[in-house]
Order: sequence, then C-alpha cells, then structure tokens
Amino acid sequence: MTELLTPDLLAAQPLDHACALSARCYTDPRMPALDARSVFAKSWQLVCHQSQLAGVGDHLVTAIAGLPIVVVRSDETTLRAFHNVCRHRAGPVASCDGKGATALRCRYHGWTYGLDGVLRGAPEMGRTPDFDPSTIRLPEARVQVWQGLVFVATGEAPPFAEFVEGIDARLGEGRSLAGFEFHHRASWEVACNWKVYVDNYLEGYHVPHIHPGLNSVLDYRSYVTETARWYSYQFSPLESADELYGSGEALYYFLYPNTMLNILPGRLQTNRVLPLGVDRCRVEFDFYYAPDTSDEGRARRERDIAFSDEVQDEDVTICEDVQRGLASGSYESGRLNPLRENAVHHFHELLRRAYREHA
Ligand code: FES
Ligand SMILES: [Fe+2]
Repeated sequence: MTELLTPDLLAAQPLDHACALSARCYTDPRMPALDARSVFAKSWQLVCHQSQLAGVGDHLVTAIAGLPIVVVRSDETTLRAFHNVCRHRAGPVASCDGKGATALRCRYHGWTYGLDGVLRGAPEMGRTPDFDPSTIRLPEARVQVWQGLVFVATGEAPPFAEFVEGIDARLGEGRSLAGFEFHHRASWEVACNWKVYVDNYLEGYHVPHIHPGLNSVLDYRSYVTETARWYSYQFSPLESADELYGSGEALYYFLYPNTMLNILPGRLQTNRVLPLGVDRCRVEFDFYYAPDTSDEGRARRERDIAFSDEVQDEDVTICEDVQRGLASGSYESGRLNPLRENAVHHFHELLRRAYREHA
C-alpha cells in the first residue's frame, strides 16, 4: 500500500507560496482514521450551549472521534463529561439526551452510576468476591464553558485559554454570547469530506460568485480575514441599508478544527462539521437569538433562517462539486490566494502539523 502522506506533502508552507492540501487528504479511505486520532481526539469540540443543560441531571449524548460521550450537569455549578461506555461490558450508560436524571443507568444489565460517574449499584453482584462498586468509575473528559458554550476535549487539547485567546476582548461586553437563547437546530448531510466544508467556510473569495444575496448584504471590499493561533475570523461591516440585520458587523469565527461561530447583531449561529466518512459529513447549525418576543423580532428571526438556508444551499452545492473534482484524479494542489485565502492556509498548516505528528 502506498504511503498515505509523504513528508513533502506535509511540509510547512509560507502563505505567499502556499498550495492547498493534497487531494488525497479529502479522498483516501485511510483519512477518517487519521483525522480522528490526530485532529478530533486532540481538540476542543463544541457540544451545546449551557442553557440546554440547565438543570441537575440534564444530559446530552455525543461522540468525539468515535468515543461516545455523555455530558451531564452533576450539580448546580458543575458540568461533567464521561465516556458513555459502561465498565461492565461496554453498553451505553445514556442512550439519548434527557432531563433531570438522578443517575446514569446502563440499559444492558442495569449497572447504575451516580452523576459523579461512580458506580452505585450493579444488580445481583452483591455476593461477588472482591467487587467494590465504589472503585469503579466512568472515565472523564475535560469540559469547559466559555461564553455560554460547552466544549469537551477527550485527549490532549490546547489549554483552553490559549485556544480562545483574544476573542473575549474582540467581542467585548456588548456582544457576549452567554445571554443568547437556543432557538433550533438544523442539520445537513453533505456529500463531501468535512475539510471541504471547512475550507469553503474559511474564505470570502467565493462570496461574489456563489452567494449573490449574501454579497449584497456584506461589504466585500471591506471584508477582512485574520488568523490567530487556534482560530481565524472574518468580519465585514454590514451595509447599513440592510433591513435584515441593521448596521453593525458580521463576525465569523472558526475554531480549529470544526467549530464555527457566526455572530451578527442579535443572533448567534454555531456550526459543527462532523465527519461521517471520507466523502460525507454532517453540518449542524444551532440558532440562538437575543431574547425578543415582539412580532418584529419573530419576523426578523424567520427572515434570518430563510436567508441562512439559501446561503447554505449554495455552499452545499459547491462543496459537493468540489468533492467530485478532488476525487476525479485530475486535481493537483492549486495555489492559494494569499490575500483572500489566508485562513484556508492557516487551517491547512494546523492540519499538516497534526498529520506530521501522527502520520
Ligand atoms: S454493559 Fe452495562 S450493565 Fe452490562
Ligand atoms: Fe459560502
């Protein structure tokens, strides 16, 4: 079998001479396993907003790089994330999201864990020699709540303060995300590698060509993309004549490797891009709005969602076209535009480094 990624494909590249990642990173059937262990298992993953786990015992199930996780509010002030893998014979200790649980009970044989992850009871095991439930506990992953958003890391991930350094100051008090209310989730399955979707998110270069509606709201000439250590962000003044968002700023954060925060006046929308296979991903959009029960507020939310759907349809179509191009055998890595694709380069450099360490 040929080597998946040779050292020359993974060498660091200066922005002004950079090429895109090799097609093989998007198409080789061995990539999902490499992405899981070198990228997803080493990163902070957004799981929800804290308002979705407001009560003690509220819990949510997810998976990171194939590892099932349950996140639970174990007391008023503590969120915990456990491996959702029973210590008996690997059943799930939570099968679905839920509210107000007093314990986590495995559905296979009924072993029951407290919200602190310690085994409390195991049916008919009372007389088993040298079996002490208090020594058996679910392994724990790290949880961090920031701006009301709940992140989990299952392995070595950057220190959280370093991961988001500078974002709080950029948002300021006026644009804190913690006060937004969850509205709904929309999911799309897209026939492309997860990195195609991320690449596309990271540049405004395509906006005038792919998104005529969005282009009329943003000021493309003033569109700026900046990179930090673990994230990049794009911002543009909104045309003040726009009745959808009013004047202000559109601010789009990408947090490596797969989280996006789309911040516009009065609304936050998060995206998670989840690999489903080498040529498939699921994109989950969670919509949040500043509390507003007025008719005008409702109408604005409806227009925002319709507009977001339109932009997403345009992105999905081009991403699926790009995946076909990458898989065609015709494509060799092309030059990036240093002015407009610096965040794509930034993402690819982080990936090259991760792959260098694990290839
Ligand atoms: S696997 Fe959980 S109780 Fe048996
Ligand atoms: Fe787009």
